Amino acid sequence: MTKKIGVLTGGGDCPGLNAVIRAVVKTAMIKYGYEVVGFRDGYRGLVLDDYLEFKPGDVSGILDKGGTILGTSNRDNPFKFKVEENGNTVYKDMSDRVIENVKKHEIDCMVLIGGDGTLTSARDFSNKGLNVVGVPKTIDNDLSATDTTFGFMTAVETATDAIDKLHSTAESHHRVMILEVMGRYAGWIALEAGIAGGADVILIPEIPYDINKVAQKVIERKNQGKSFSIVVVAEGAKSLDGEMIVSKVVKDSPDPIRLGGIGNAVAERIEKLTGIETRVTVLGHLQRGGRPVPFDRILSTRYGVAAVEMVHEGKYGRMVSLQGNHITSVPLEAAVGKLKTVAPEGELVKIAKSIGLSFGD
Ligand code: F6P
Repeated sequence: MTKKIGVLTGGGDCPGLNAVIRAVVKTAMIKYGYEVVGFRDGYRGLVLDDYLEFKPGDVSGILDKGGTILGTSNRDNPFKFKVEENGNTVYKDMSDRVIENVKKHEIDCMVLIGGDGTLTSARDFSNKGLNVVGVPKTIDNDLSATDTTFGFMTAVETATDAIDKLHSTAESHHRVMILEVMGRYAGWIALEAGIAGGADVILIPEIPYDINKVAQKVIERKNQGKSFSIVVVAEGAKSLDGEMIVSKVVKDSPDPIRLGGIGNAVAERIEKLTGIETRVTVLGHLQRGGRPVPFDRILSTRYGVAAVEMVHEGKYGRMVSLQGNHITSVPLEAAVGKLKTVAPEGELVKIAKSIGLSFGD
């Protein structure tokens, strides 16, 4: 029996989305002879019925491309969708419209590729009776029901490369260099790039820092003849007595808080406490762009193929997941709502501390 699959990418983009789309379309068409419909710009396309019918050639040459050929949005919640009515902005539940559109196209199952926000809506659609399969993506690696999300390794590579480059200029000028990285409420990018890049201090949301201890580390290094220091700060890091620094509130987003700005705050205080010139680099969206590293291309391909296999078997309401080196699936209900954060006593933090890195605690 032939089936029709719908696919969309939601939330912030990340390297590897195109590799998933490619794997879904190729497996569906080549292995099973299924049809695939793509919806543009995340749930927006599903609400507004903005779609394209995939032909096999449409996914050629996209494996190594960052971003998503379908477009995405991290503002459009189909259960609270922004509409203009009589000159006023109102938020409406458009989930019934989504279900009508899926029925109209005679789609058997929607493959929904996204992070916590997209997958929460996927869970809600599943509860409303829609056949869905979730695919976890995010550079933040903060989804609890999978060991790794694609996009994360590419972001770590970009951040590590930045640390490598900051090292030489820090050393030449005898400066403290701060690198602010993304990650929302989880410190994975800062932690892994910090270890890979040989940072001296890593500040993450899971371990509140004491700025005096950070300054102490910088001074200690100076006294040992190391006239520069590299500090990696996760955007969600907070001091013992402080709050996370919010750069923006995006009202119509399912998660309206945008973090950012902690790098400057930390730099100012380090410079004051140590007297050493301190500079800040905010890596920002560079972490979300560019070519996915091979690990992410392979993981995305595995996820895409697995998603179509689940559609084939009629295993709906679940999310594909990497556990160990094995691709499996978990119920969407278990996949959302709980973030995977860095364990302050976990192995990676311990090994970092063993080699002298400071977390400011
Ligand atoms: O979730 C991915 C992410 O890049 C976070 O690390 C960051 O906090 C956020 O998205 C930035 O979102 P925006 O693209 O809306 O600025």
